[in-house]
Amino acid sequence: MKIGTPKEVFNGEARVAMTPDSALQLQKLGYDCIIESGAGTLAGFSDASYQTAGVSVVETAADLWGAADIIAKVRQPDDAELQYLTADKTLISFFNPGGNAEGMEQAKSAGATVVAMEMVPRISRAQKMDALSSMANIAGYRAVIEAGNNFGRFFTGQITAAGKVPPAKVLVVGAGVAGLAAIGTSTSLGAVTYAFDVRPEVAEQVESMGAEFVYLDFEDEATDGAATGGYASVQSEEFRNAQLAKFREIAPDIDIVITTALIPNRPAPKLWLADMVAAMKPGSVIVDLAAERGGNAEGTVPDEKIVTDNGVTIIGYTDFPSRMASQASSLYATNIRHMMTDLTPEKDGQVVHDMEDDVIRGATVTHAGEITFPPPPPKIKAIAAQKKPEVKELTPEELRAQETAAFKAQTKTQVTLLTIGGLLLLGVGLVAPASFMQHFIVFVLSVFIGFQVIWNVSHSLHTPLMAVTNAISSIIILGAVMQVGSGSALVILLAGLAIFMAGINIFGGFLVTRRMLAMFQKS
Ligand code: NAI
Repeated sequence: MKIGTPKEVFNGEARVAMTPDSALQLQKLGYDCIIESGAGTLAGFSDASYQTAGVSVVETAADLWGAADIIAKVRQPDDAELQYLTADKTLISFFNPGGNAEGMEQAKSAGATVVAMEMVPRISRAQKMDALSSMANIAGYRAVIEAGNNFGRFFTGQITAAGKVPPAKVLVVGAGVAGLAAIGTSTSLGAVTYAFDVRPEVAEQVESMGAEFVYLDFEDEATDGAATGGYASVQSEEFRNAQLAKFREIAPDIDIVITTALIPNRPAPKLWLADMVAAMKPGSVIVDLAAERGGNAEGTVPDEKIVTDNGVTIIGYTDFPSRMASQASSLYATNIRHMMTDLTPEKDGQVVHDMEDDVIRGATVTHAGEITFPPPPPKIKAIAAQKKPEVKELTPEELRAQETAAFKAQTKTQVTLLTIGGLLLLGVGLVAPASFMQHFIVFVLSVFIGFQVIWNVSHSLHTPLMAVTNAISSIIILGAVMQVGSGSALVILLAGLAIFMAGINIFGGFLVTRRMLAMFQKS
């Protein structure tokens, strides 16, 4: 079969759904690849580079759609493109099935199969086909770059001869895929980064990336992301008020706000209100990644960059992935290639559209003359919710009985071990010389004490334990201290060196241990 990629027709779209690299992989699956001339130009892939990868270049869109059995593209097809669909064709692209009933109807009447890339279910196996995530990742990264481009100061703080520069303060609202990418980029550029999300489980991810999670003074039933495929649900009015109050409090201090908050099938929640925009310093920047769905910030104009009266720039571009077309095309083409791998179990260049497969079923919106959207929920849950094991509450009597039994068992093992150890020592003592026994007993005791000290330390603390053991092992310093007063210059020099090096080991060891232990402490 032939898989082909046309040039994107959407105004300004620079991405392409097939790259020379992905074409090589598709050929390994047994497909012939074709591409419309110039389809990759804006993403930096020339016709010649496709030809080198064994792709046939055709001149017009009509030729491409006519020749290909499977058409892979980026944007939702327009009316003219839908006309090309016939019963034997499979289209793989973003399709916006929730808001594109007409398109689905047209594909259904043509008898074509449509695989909508935004419908790939969020299960672990499908992550490599998850184009929404790969594009959101790029959008998050680009949002920070775009903000930096419009911000008149450094991200990182500096102390220079010409003066002290404070670091920029960045707030990321919504720590999903795009938000986390923005946080990563912002912290790596040196900005002091804050983040907020309604899903409390992301706080740890945010903090592990070097940002600070903005906590609210609010007790509410936590949004269970696992139950909704990692997506947020609508919050209560009280929660929203607490959230807005917090934002209002920090707005004057924040230089850059990147908003990414979305709730599936709903307009974007308004979270950065006009008064917060007004409270920001002149020169501040807001990048609203939710602009396509109405925007999180008041004042966002989709596809435009505006500057408010108080000098705040609000960026509402909706084409961030396309602004990094080369990277976005590579990732998207890889998503498509993985989808094709799933559709080609025999690697023989023949599509097997298995509607029993969770991923294929979930993403297919029309097939065999039927509209198959919306799909049933996947058999596997998106992110398996961690079930807490049920712990039976014990009565005080039961608890005491349990403790006594445990103590008895422990005493029994200890007495047995001591008896065996004592007998063994006695046995060795009967035959070994006295000088050996003296050292041997010290050795046995140190093994025993070492074992007792380490045995009860939890595994996660073994690394700090090793660091502190390393520090303690520098007891060697005592020998060096005793020798440093010797008459020989060489011995003094060597002892001095030994004290210096053991000193590094001691102070370094304790310092490293302290830092490691700090990682385990809850602030
Ligand atoms: P999204 O684009 O729908 O939403 C972005 C973020 O906005 C979410 O984190 C959401 O909690 C947050 N948000 C919604 N309302 C908000 C409000 N009022 N205030 C502040 N934040 C608000 O979500 P996205 O980025 O597509 O992914 C969400 C999660 O899904 C990810 O964090 C991840 O855990 C999960 N995921 C799982 C995948 C898999 O298992 N295959 C693949 C991709 C994501």
